[in-house]
Amino acid sequence: MRVTATTEAAASTAADTVVVGLIEGEGIPHDLDGGPLQALVDAGEARAKPQHLAVAHVAGKRWILVGLGTREALDAEALRLAAAAAHGRARDLGAEVLTWELPHKAREHEPARAVVEGTLMAAYRFTEARSSEDDGAPSAVRELIVSDHADQADAVAGAVIVTEAVNRARDLQNAPANRMTPTALGQRAQEIAAAHGALTCEVTGRAGIEALGMGAFAAVAQGTDEEPALIVLRYEPADAAGPVLGLVGKGVTFDSGGISIKPAGSMADMKYDMTGGAAVLEAVGAIAELELPVRIVAVVGATENLLGPRAMKPGDVFTTAAGKTVQVDNTDAEGRLVLADCLHHAVTLGAERLVDAATLTGAIMSTLGRVYSGLWVDDEPWAAEVQGAAAQAGELVWRMPLHERYAELVKGSVADLANQAAPRTGASSTAAEFLHNFTGGVPWAHFDIAGTAWDSGRAYAPKGGTGVMVRTFVALAKRVAQAPQ
Ligand code: BES
Ligand code: MN
Ligand code: ZN
Repeated sequence: MRVTATTEAAASTAADTVVVGLIEGEGIPHDLDGGPLQALVDAGEARAKPQHLAVAHVAGKRWILVGLGTREALDAEALRLAAAAAHGRARDLGAEVLTWELPHKAREHEPARAVVEGTLMAAYRFTEARSSEDDGAPSAVRELIVSDHADQADAVAGAVIVTEAVNRARDLQNAPANRMTPTALGQRAQEIAAAHGALTCEVTGRAGIEALGMGAFAAVAQGTDEEPALIVLRYEPADAAGPVLGLVGKGVTFDSGGISIKPAGSMADMKYDMTGGAAVLEAVGAIAELELPVRIVAVVGATENLLGPRAMKPGDVFTTAAGKTVQVDNTDAEGRLVLADCLHHAVTLGAERLVDAATLTGAIMSTLGRVYSGLWVDDEPWAAEVQGAAAQAGELVWRMPLHERYAELVKGSVADLANQAAPRTGASSTAAEFLHNFTGGVPWAHFDIAGTAWDSGRAYAPKGGTGVMVRTFVALAKRVAQAPQ
């Protein structure tokens, strides 16, 4: 979709359809002659109730009135949801060019950004796996014009870059695991790197992973013939400021559970076990496109977790790159094995702040559902930055506890560490404490996105991949670029 900004009034743009938001108790800001839109409100057909839709045909255009709720409750998320609802109706009605008239006095919610995000995310479709483009859905809206009294061109351009990165991450998530292999994820990283001068990418296969001493990562990968990939994507712009940001992502392209095999029911969903990795890669692409002055070292550990003849077995012990030994009590707790070596690698490569994203535990889904991502941080100033970034991005995160007593639960009986605590004993926090052993004292934040990565139920990403964390990572990079060393 082409997206532009204009300071022209919505009515005089070349759109066939105009979207106007309705705020409780407030009139139509720019009604047409004779007040036809206000008449729709007065008749009770158009309402301010969030996401309520009404349609009118006036002055040669289609007008969609969408409810924005009360002024007090208005925020960026309300605007994203309204934009998603309006886009859905516009597409159903065959709209080709859509103008959004931004609500007045809503500057603090960055309405241009919110409307672009809501519209582009809602317009997302995963069609790659179909033989024909025609999936029976109505044809796409071609163009979005954002109309405001102030010039919103920069806000719109920035939002387009970030939202397209979100949608590309969703493509990676939604792609079936036989296509989205570790090698394919590595190729995507190379493609991202090739598009921007300040990016470099290196992909290391099985032999290299073993040579680096990454015994935990290699242990997961030994159950599959599919070549694993240690993906390192670096962003080093000339004008960088602030500490080196280390982004680490779990890139398990399919998690069968291994010998500790998962039940068949929802196993197909385990293609999205690479969401953290997808978010890291696409966020770095967006950060480079935005030319943010920050240095980044991104590390993604990509492998399948299968149960081939060489697969790791419960009870096996492996030595991590950091030197610590791990006993594998459950082969389905593979994410922490991969991440242990990747976190250590990011520190080795010079990361001065760490953040990882991983679909790490089913337990976070029981705790926070598909609403909040779980967040663990071991450093208060870093926590403030990370939570600030998520809030700015409009992604919901909930702080969870680290504690020495959780750490004790992942101490091994024969090795230094065990990859699983006793069942039902704080699985998400013990997983976090397991990772904590590999962060080398660098301020570290960990996102468990097992719930929020998929089927969010939100109007702009109801089914399938959500691209969660791309927006937060970009916001975080902006903040780090502004932080003193
Ligand atoms: N990839 C899963 C976690 C997951 C579950 C992601 C559901 C998305 C939806 C992870 O590798 C896993 O299997 N974790 C185990 C850990 C346990 C064995 C300690 C879990 O949560 O059951
Ligand atoms: Mn698993
Ligand atoms: Zn997994």
